[in-house]
Amino acid sequence: MSKLPRLTVIGTGYLGATHAICMAVMGYEVLGVDVDASKIDRLNAGEVPFFEPGLPEMLAKALDSGRLRFTTSFAEAGEFGDVHFICVGTPQRKDSEAADMTYVDASVTALAGHLTRKALVVGKSTVPVGTAARLTELVRATAPAGDQVELAWNPEFLREGFAVEDTMKPDRLVFGVTSPWAEAQLRSAFQPVLAQGVPVKVTDLQTAELVKVAANSFLATKISYINAMAEVCEATGADVTDLAEALAYDDRIGGKFLRPGLGFGGGCLPKDIRAFAHRAEELGVGQAVGFLREIDGINRRRRARTVDLVLELAGGDVAGKRVAALGAAFKPNSDDIRDAPALDVAATLHRMGATVTVFDPAANDNARRAHPELRYGASALDAAMDADVVVLLTEWTEFREIDPEIMGQVVTSRKIIDGRHALIPASWRAAGWEYRALGRP
Ligand code: UDX
Repeated sequence: MSKLPRLTVIGTGYLGATHAICMAVMGYEVLGVDVDASKIDRLNAGEVPFFEPGLPEMLAKALDSGRLRFTTSFAEAGEFGDVHFICVGTPQRKDSEAADMTYVDASVTALAGHLTRKALVVGKSTVPVGTAARLTELVRATAPAGDQVELAWNPEFLREGFAVEDTMKPDRLVFGVTSPWAEAQLRSAFQPVLAQGVPVKVTDLQTAELVKVAANSFLATKISYINAMAEVCEATGADVTDLAEALAYDDRIGGKFLRPGLGFGGGCLPKDIRAFAHRAEELGVGQAVGFLREIDGINRRRRARTVDLVLELAGGDVAGKRVAALGAAFKPNSDDIRDAPALDVAATLHRMGATVTVFDPAANDNARRAHPELRYGASALDAAMDADVVVLLTEWTEFREIDPEIMGQVVTSRKIIDGRHALIPASWRAAGWEYRALGRP
């Protein structure tokens, strides 16, 4: 291996912390940077501030190697790094559907002020197309090294729950660059990944920015497509799980992201499709991706229809009824409750007068902070105690493995809604449960 560049990673949230840790394990000297001093202290002490399988062990390994440190100092970052990765969040703005660029702009400005020699700034955050060109101007106007500083784009596709494996061996790398030097720097910043034969697509800045939003829009579309089919199935008595399985045998369609249910949530897909639709409108091509609004609409309807199904099973009204909500995280193996369909359904039922008891294997604490009005159980059985209706909202393995007989001992009503098609209907029905799921007879 030729001499490895020193890396900084600005932003130590989900994406940044994982990137910094994995890069250090792969052999790079890495400095992680964040404005949140408490997060920096926790990371330096070997504690990952969020739930991600395998990451705590990787952090311990990286810290032991002596190649990884975290700081709040941008001056230190400018001094240390050859390649600087920008990994801060781009949440949805409060006042519109656009992406909030405050953190990207602030971190790039803060870093650029300390760039006194040739360096590469690499954006990883999900941004509206055109951001890299704008940031190039910003960096060159702010950095003491001026136009010796170059900008590149390297979108990140990692999934929560699989963050380590997606970072160590991604499906592909995308390098958006404007010079051969920038490409060479990126290649040396990803040497161990490229050495495994991971394909790399080298392209311009705007295409690299678009790859990420195009990919997430496609995934969201696939999910909403099968959920739209679920609505049609309901009107006809057809079974959407059989339909999805039959579609999946066609290689051209494929079975991934074709799982019907309560729909998508999280910190990425919902806000990314909205920001993309908004950006396309600004660019005068809103019509081209107008369907994304429909995708969002189908997705939101899943939550409303799940609430309707609870009402139906509760006899038309949930006021005064007890509902057990199994799951709070936006998906299993995560404690992330951002735009979580599960919590949305639970909170709506509470507003309608139900007494809702939530249990999530990892997200109870986060959920309690966001929704103190709800009750929280210590286990699935505890949450289900004396419930009028049980509703499975996040498909954790431990919920799939619930024994209907055992749960039936604490739920005399024996009514369950499977919001994620995670259970085997025949075994619940055989145990005397009324089993219901959207899109199935
Ligand atoms: C997503 C993208 O997959 C990832 O590439 C990108 O970098 C960030 O956004 P993530 O948000 O971690 O990753 O979760 P993902 O596994 O994609 O699931 C998103 C949502 O879709 C979850 O709420 C999940 O429950 C839902 N989903 C997924 C379905 O409802 N059906 C499916 O078939 C697949």
